[in-house]
Amino acid sequence: MDISVRELRKTFDRYPALHDVSLDIQSGELIALLGPSGSGKTTLLRLIAGLEFPTSGSIFYGTEDASGKSVRDRQVGFVFQHYALFKHMTVADNIGFGLKVRDRSKRPSSAEIRRRASDLLDLVQLPGLEDRYPSQLSGGQRQRVALARALAIEPRVLLLDEPFGALDAKVRKELRRWLRELHERTGHTTIFVTHDQEEALELSDRVVVMSQGRIEQVGTPDEIYDTPATPFVFSFIGDSSEIPISVSGGEAHVGNRSIGVFAEGLPDGPARLFVRPHDLDLVSDDPQTIAAVVTAVRRNSGSRFVEAEIDGCRSKVEIELPADDMRVFEGRIALKPKRWKIFPDAKRPNSQSVVGKGPYKHESEPKPPDYSQMVS
Ligand SMILES: Nc1ncnc2c1ncn2[C@@H]1O[C@H](COP(=O)(O)OP(=O)(O)O)[C@@H](O)[C@H]1O
Ligand SMILES: [Mg+2]
Repeated sequence: MDISVRELRKTFDRYPALHDVSLDIQSGELIALLGPSGSGKTTLLRLIAGLEFPTSGSIFYGTEDASGKSVRDRQVGFVFQHYALFKHMTVADNIGFGLKVRDRSKRPSSAEIRRRASDLLDLVQLPGLEDRYPSQLSGGQRQRVALARALAIEPRVLLLDEPFGALDAKVRKELRRWLRELHERTGHTTIFVTHDQEEALELSDRVVVMSQGRIEQVGTPDEIYDTPATPFVFSFIGDSSEIPISVSGGEAHVGNRSIGVFAEGLPDGPARLFVRPHDLDLVSDDPQTIAAVVTAVRRNSGSRFVEAEIDGCRSKVEIELPADDMRVFEGRIALKPKRWKIFPDAKRPNSQSVVGKGPYKHESEPKPPDYSQMVS
């Protein structure tokens, strides 16, 4: 089932929780809504479900305008972090609940409901647990039963709001892979809410990054990580450092010093350069670099991290090097980004950002530099 959200706005007591959000979800897609707490993920999910109604805008299920329809008419399956199973009901009764409460004309027979519950228990890899009670299951098992219950009504869309949020890290990781496999077998259109970027990037076909009631970027996990569209996405996803720069004559400067990085197409003035720790190189014999002073060095599994403070500003950067890089890192160092992205200063809304990767300006003759094209 394709789902289309058009200019959806939701305000609670005049406080805007969602600002004119538009999003197209394709049938069979597993999409993650990712953002920090309070960014509007649950609100968007509840609006899609019909648990909440929009202040303005509309929601389409296929070509049908579902905006005014009830939860039941929309035929959605839910799993929530705290949507506990009914304690006094067996696993089979929990799974069959949504079928049992149907109008008589649409209600399957008791035997049929019981059979479907068994099939679904097989599907979620908990065969034979029909007669257990929720208190006799682990947290991970309970969430799998909750998923079976959501699937029992043959939903047109499956909505999961931080379903693994209350489980410990190891179980979460297992369930994440399990859910991906299950999705590949069943092919339900699925919207998965999480604030955990690892979960979103590993699990989903596309990620919707949200902040303050707005969508910052929609893209595949690779696109979100490799070409972040906004400063928020760059700093929220993965590790990164931000370096305040100024642009003059199409070149980036830190203080008065050119760092040999193109910023073509950006107007003169302040801007923000973002770089990932593994995209920063330590260099010598190069007049155009970022000068910094080492403040700390630490080892973390396969990498060595050097932390440094940039000359002329308080900004810290982190450089990731292979653990077997045995150079002595102390005192003054010179840095050069291999890949980076420059965003105009927030107060200059009409300028575009620029992505780049080496070689650099002063190395560019005779051939033109190999930096990527402009992106908006
Ligand atoms: N029922 C409500 N009444 C008032 N404010 C709400 C309500 N639900 C959510 N909000 C507010 O809307 C914003 C977005 O919340 P939510 O969608 O729950 O974010 P998330 O799921 O990303 O953590 C938050 O500031 C939250 O306090
Ligand atoms: Mg939430």
